[in-house]
Amino acid sequence: MNKLVTKKMLAVARRAAVRAYAPYSDFRVGAAVLDERGRIHPGCNVENSSYSLTICAERAAISRAVCSGAKAVKAVLVYTDTDSLTPPCGACLQVIAEFGGNPEVILANRGATRHARLSDFLPERFRL
Ligand code: THU
Repeated sequence: MNKLVTKKMLAVARRAAVRAYAPYSDFRVGAAVLDERGRIHPGCNVENSSYSLTICAERAAISRAVCSGAKAVKAVLVYTDTDSLTPPCGACLQVIAEFGGNPEVILANRGATRHARLSDFLPERFRL
């Protein structure tokens, strides 16, 4: 991934993390999805008092991308303001996989950025 695009995605995800609604976990996550047209779509986690209704930042960003007309997910960046990196949860991996290919998955925190591919986290995917 082009360094400038990664930088832009990081900025978008960091901004999104500030808007996270996380009163229960206090764990703020920001995501940025790069689509096939080079557009970057933000998402943040949105928690709920009925915990299982919580939506992760990655899935929020993908929903927003789809609603903006995105047809493919080229890359997903996940940002947390922590010392460790946060890989997407299993549910998010499956949702990312829905849009085909083997998108880049970039993990970022306060000081580090790690580039990987969806297949590094989800070697096999469920398909119908
Ligand atoms: N979370 C995400 O937003 N993305 C992930 O991939 C893992 C978890 C959120 C969900 C919840 O609001 C908080 O992190 C703690 O689990």
